[in-house]
Amino acid sequence: PKMGRKLLPEELLITTGSSQVIDLLCWALLDRGDWVICEEPTFLGATGTMYNHGARFLTVPCDSEGMKVELLPDLIERALASGNRIKFIYTIVNFHNPLGCDLSLERRKRLLEIASTYGIMILEDDPYGWVRFEGEEIQSLFSMDEQGLVVFASSFSKILAPGTRVAWCAGNSEIIRKMAVFKQGTDTCTSVVVQAIVWEYCRLGHLDSFLPRIVSHYRDKRDGMEAALQKYMPAERVSWQKPKGGFFYWISAPGIPAEELLKRAVEKKVAFVPGEAFYPTGTGGRDDFRMCFTFASPEMTDLGVEKLGEAISEFE
Ligand SMILES: Cc1ncc(COP(=O)(O)O)c(C=O)c1O
Repeated sequence: PKMGRKLLPEELLITTGSSQVIDLLCWALLDRGDWVICEEPTFLGATGTMYNHGARFLTVPCDSEGMKVELLPDLIERALASGNRIKFIYTIVNFHNPLGCDLSLERRKRLLEIASTYGIMILEDDPYGWVRFEGEEIQSLFSMDEQGLVVFASSFSKILAPGTRVAWCAGNSEIIRKMAVFKQGTDTCTSVVVQAIVWEYCRLGHLDSFLPRIVSHYRDKRDGMEAALQKYMPAERVSWQKPKGGFFYWISAPGIPAEELLKRAVEKKVAFVPGEAFYPTGTGGRDDFRMCFTFASPEMTDLGVEKLGEAISEFE
């Protein structure tokens, strides 16, 4: 349902994690030195894979509604004018990793318009869309795409178990066929034994009945982190946006270098991911960091955020 329309068999490929979708799309589209447009910050696993394929990055900043798509035409024009090939736009539409925000409907429509004007493909990476705590679901790019430019990727990693390594992508049959050929050269196929287990799990209705429990479980954890942040963070030094789903908080602490804060936090047995890791061009995120709320118990989260608040307050 999240994809928004029925698929033909030739429009679907089962993959070994959605990480593999990124890898296969790179095999299918990229030559070394080609450009990929992505949000900044973005999921470092994705840009790492693209980097291994020789990608270079054009980046678009984000605000609370996701990628600032109005900046794209100028960015694209300038890149094309200097003779660069742009192969695809990578976007995490729902509950962004690491920002936690989602791309508004307006911007999704505009993004599609821009992509079709320039004939650039889009990789719509959506592993978190099923983990919505509140608010209306926003239509996928894939469901609104009339030109076969969007490859949609999602995964059982966040809604069943990361260890299944079962994921899928959907796109026009030509690109899916190319990706399938590269997949044969990579791992032949995703374990059919595991695929059968996931299939039976879904067929028997377990995913449908389990999902509301997962969502409610993670919502409680998100609420626990929100309460702890409100309680312990020095409001004049730190800001954040409460995510409506997904796994992450993105915290901005201007004037407090996250790498330095991490050292002090680790002494207090608290860890997070410093923001710079999510900037493929290495030009931002110094005073930002990502916190994940899905693992720790509410009690641990409360204690951890209290310690982190202390570490922040200790900065001059
Ligand atoms: C945005 C995004 N895409 C893809 C993945 C990879 O997921 P998978 O476990 O299916 O490879 C992740 C995992 O953290 C992610 O955050």
